[in-house]
Amino acid sequence: MAVPSSSLLSSLLLLALFLHHHCSAAQDRGSAAVVVNISAVEDVVRDRAFELLHRTDKLVGVPLTACPSACGLVEVQASALRVRSSSLWADGVNATDAAAGTAGFTVPPRVVPSPFARRVDVVFERFVGSNSSGALFAAPPGYALAAPVAALLAYDVSTGNNGSRAVGLRALGAPVRVEFGDLSSAAANGTQPFNATAARCVTFAVASGQAKAVATHAMASDTACTVTGTGHYGVAVRLQPPPPSPTPPTPQPPAAVRERWWA
Ligand SMILES: *[C@@H]1O[C@H](CO)[C@@H](O)[C@H](O)[C@H]1NC(C)=O
Ligand SMILES: *[C@@H]1O[C@H](CO)[C@@H](O)[C@H](O)[C@H]1NC(C)=O
Ligand SMILES: *[C@@H]1O[C@H](CO)[C@@H](O)[C@H](O)[C@H]1NC(C)=O
Ligand SMILES: *[C@@H]1O[C@H](CO)[C@@H](O)[C@H](O)[C@H]1NC(C)=O
Ligand SMILES: *[C@@H]1O[C@H](CO)[C@@H](O)[C@H](O)[C@H]1NC(C)=O
Ligand SMILES: *[C@@H]1O[C@H](CO)[C@@H](O)[C@H](O)[C@H]1NC(C)=O
Repeated sequence: MAVPSSSLLSSLLLLALFLHHHCSAAQDRGSAAVVVNISAVEDVVRDRAFELLHRTDKLVGVPLTACPSACGLVEVQASALRVRSSSLWADGVNATDAAAGTAGFTVPPRVVPSPFARRVDVVFERFVGSNSSGALFAAPPGYALAAPVAALLAYDVSTGNNGSRAVGLRALGAPVRVEFGDLSSAAANGTQPFNATAARCVTFAVASGQAKAVATHAMASDTACTVTGTGHYGVAVRLQPPPPSPTPPTPQPPAAVRERWWA
């Protein structure tokens, strides 16, 4: 794959956003679960990314103190870069640093925005913190998330900083790859070591601002999932089976015994 990753990345704008929505109103609601609208949070990230990609060619951290309309205690780490679809097609984007064991993504060549856009802001988000992934993204039944959920999103630049400009990225060649970083400590949980063979990549669908696990597939490596394009992705490990119940159902007893039991 001829991806001139470092030169491409240095010629693109790359930034990091650290949002720490700290909404006291939401906390004051007591024990009731706070419903956070994921799409609303991502709209804030999108708008910040658009502003920063407009004015900055450096990696910058942006503390976001305002609580958006979707209140909640949500911690999002995001990075974004602006790329022409022609170079997306020709070169892809490599925004991983596997050596450092950090999360990131690789968009291979032969990826097109859908619907088509000449330039896109590619945004990579991680829902970090115990109140983010766990609260917003439920693992499939019997599984627990092993790492912060990651979202790969793309937005048409040409419409300006205007809502409703999300586009998909469709990989026509090699799949897109999402790196979750070092998972060995993330999933240890004091019980079992992380086992990528047994773990599952989880695809979440987000509708009306709420996420739902819709599919799982095998991991591509100890740290990465291959995916078809933009979306929300997680890694889940199977929960320990519950301990045997104190009164396990005994094998079906002979009829005579059962009659005695129920007599
Ligand atoms: C969530 O936020 C998005 C974008 O701001 C909005 O379009 C949608 O209506 C919201 N959903 C709910 C259930 O509030
Ligand atoms: C992307 O970066 C990673 C880590 O530096 C490297 O291992 C990989 O070969 C790169 N992929 C491409 C397509 O350049
Ligand atoms: C998560 O939210 C609860 C209250 O909703 C708060 O007490 C706790 O400190 C939060 N945890 C983190 C890591 O922010
Ligand atoms: C990890 O521990 C927490 C609380 O101790 C528990 O809720 C969760 O299910 C555990 N996860 C796994 C994968 O065992
Ligand atoms: C903003 O988006 C709306 C809905 O897609 C569209 O009608 C409007 O023309 C856009 N405005 C600009 C300045 O692009
Ligand atoms: C990892 O999981 C696979 C599939 O469940 C299993 O065959 C393998 O023995 C496990 N490896 C370890 C080191 O537990």
